[in-house]
Amino acid sequence: MGKLLFIETLGCAMNSRDSEHMIAELREKEGYETTDDFKIADLILINTCSVRERPVHKLFSELGGFNKHKKKGAKIGVCGCTASHLGEEIIKKAPYVNFVLGARNVSRISEVLHKDKAVEIDINYDESEFAFKDFRSSSFKGFINISIGCDKSCTFCIVPKTRGDEISIPDSLIINEAKRIVEMGAKEIFLLGQNVNNYGRRFSGEHEKMNFTKLLRRLSKIEKLERIRFTSPHPFHMDDEFIEEFSSNPKICKSMHMPLQSGSTKVLKEMKRGYSKEWFLNRVQKLKTMCPEATISTDIIVGFPGESDEDFEDTIDVMKQVQFDQIFSFKYSPRPQTEAERFTNIVDGDVASQRLSFLQSIHNEIIDQNNAKLLGNIYRVYFEDLHRDAYVTGRSDNNIVIKVKGSEELLGTFRDVKIISIGRTILTGEVIA
Ligand code: SAH
Ligand code: F3S
Repeated sequence: MGKLLFIETLGCAMNSRDSEHMIAELREKEGYETTDDFKIADLILINTCSVRERPVHKLFSELGGFNKHKKKGAKIGVCGCTASHLGEEIIKKAPYVNFVLGARNVSRISEVLHKDKAVEIDINYDESEFAFKDFRSSSFKGFINISIGCDKSCTFCIVPKTRGDEISIPDSLIINEAKRIVEMGAKEIFLLGQNVNNYGRRFSGEHEKMNFTKLLRRLSKIEKLERIRFTSPHPFHMDDEFIEEFSSNPKICKSMHMPLQSGSTKVLKEMKRGYSKEWFLNRVQKLKTMCPEATISTDIIVGFPGESDEDFEDTIDVMKQVQFDQIFSFKYSPRPQTEAERFTNIVDGDVASQRLSFLQSIHNEIIDQNNAKLLGNIYRVYFEDLHRDAYVTGRSDNNIVIKVKGSEELLGTFRDVKIISIGRTILTGEVIA
């Protein structure tokens, strides 16, 4: 039997893609196969997230558990954003860790594997043109990175410190990757970047002038490709051309992530988000006018330093006006090496928790009201996941998750589905064609 790799992935979709990249390299170059059981693995990797504090704390207790129960001689590697941010400290605190590999250095996985106590965390390392081997965890859709790093300086965010400056990946590489995904039989691609609609800002080599809208147009020419999704676009870069392309290009799925963070112009300024409450609402208005069927999701932080009751009211106001279909909401968590870490006008933890629960309860009301209107609607669903008890889930073009009774044969197919019952996070339907 070959060597076995156990990999745990925390955090965002970019981390999931980084894990796929590492699995691909380790399979091709080192002969590893993956396992779900860390106790029999020869190599244990944790691909970490450092965007909030809690997962960082969890890392060390988890590492202890891995070390205690691992197979004799197995190696442990810590990868991803916490690796970039803590570097050598990880090996000091947990000396049994064999190597530390930053989020910007995943192409070096087979190199560090053979150097005990290696720490590769250079955030200026350029892997924007590195030709990773192919490995995909889904046969029905493929994730594609279109840029690495982030050039923004949101005052709460650690990502620019862990993933470095933003570099776009040449469109020829992206298009070839999309073609390979389609040849494999998948019909959907998912473009990834911290700031996808800032695509083309900087390439590491010579490149024609490009932007995200142009990239979307080029990708949509791939014949058998049926659906294009992407995350995250930044509200600041949502110009008319982008919203018009989004609305009129039939291959682009009609769900938009618009990370609001706060509805207060004052707080947005403190966060250095680059837009105001009015700009955000104006962009939503444009999107809703051009594309009424689009669903909109968002990220919201409550309890950012200096957030007053009035500021929080502004967030609730935007939420009520926009009627977001999905929210990812967080209590502000101070992060090392960020500007906001030094802000002194801290919001009391209990106040922040109350705001978070209030926000979530208002959002639940919005969802319940909106979902009730979906009963009886018909959606074209692309089925991707088989579950126990003989049901299959998929997504509508506008990203509504729908489950139906069914089996494997539905996977990878598009079907018309009628909604027959409503839940808060999942709708149930029946296949009608
Ligand atoms: N580039 C992405 C953000 C990546 S981080 C974007 O603009 O959407 C994902 C989300 O985590 C952010 O949108 C934000 O809502 C949340 N987040 C980031 N830093 C945080 C912090 N210090 N405390 C709480 N939430 C944070
Ligand atoms: Fe973070 Fe802002 Fe970039 S949230 S990832 S610094 S766009």
